[in-house]
Amino acid sequence: MSGLVHLGIIMDGNGRWAKMRNLPRVAGHLEGLKSLKKVIKGCIDEEIRYLTVYCFSTENWKRPASEVNYLMALFTNKVYGEIKAISSLGVQVRLLGNRSALPEAALKALDRTREETKNNDKLILQLAINYGGHDEIVRAVNSLIKDGIKEVSAELIRSRFDNPDIPPVDFIVRSAGEERLSNFLLFDSAYSELGFYDKLWPDWDEDMIKTVKQDFLKRTRRFGGLT
Ligand code: FPP
Repeated sequence: MSGLVHLGIIMDGNGRWAKMRNLPRVAGHLEGLKSLKKVIKGCIDEEIRYLTVYCFSTENWKRPASEVNYLMALFTNKVYGEIKAISSLGVQVRLLGNRSALPEAALKALDRTREETKNNDKLILQLAINYGGHDEIVRAVNSLIKDGIKEVSAELIRSRFDNPDIPPVDFIVRSAGEERLSNFLLFDSAYSELGFYDKLWPDWDEDMIKTVKQDFLKRTRRFGGLT
């Protein structure tokens, strides 16, 4: 079993990739989807069991409506649309994020994909859509308050997350050179390793996952203790 169990990716740089080619920003997102497919294969080859990808943040609604609508259409049509390929690879798809603002059609497609892939266990793919680390914690705490819980613990909060069975992320990587978390997996990243790569997301492929895994295996993790 690989030492890298759960990889999280902030897929950044789609807009810059498109701009460099004088293409509309959304062309970068479409190309980014192609990279995601290659990266999924790379994760399976490298025996990574969980992959969480940041597809749309709770802050991304501030983008122009045309770009938001394009991304929502991708989530609606391109996930279930790939169900055969997803299943043949043994990928189970889960949604991570706040369902309340997502279009009904996207939720329907994502729920259907989850249902039809629930027995696949080669790679568990969490699609973080309308996801924010603050929102995740707030929703969990509110659900505890609603149940009359008067005092919380880290374990109790985590138990109310969308997919509490998925272990905390081991390595969070970000493409396109920016070095920040942008509200991604704030609670579970307490002891994650972080990696920042200059390559724009649409240029990522299976080989990048080999590099990422090698980089992770060089890290020494102490979780606040001593080696
Ligand atoms: C950030 O790059 C990227 C996004 C906000 C969208 C990521 C979405 C995908 C790769 C598509 C996934 C699709 C499915 C169906 C799961 P940016 O646009 O902020 O890039 P920039 O910083 O260069 O402008």
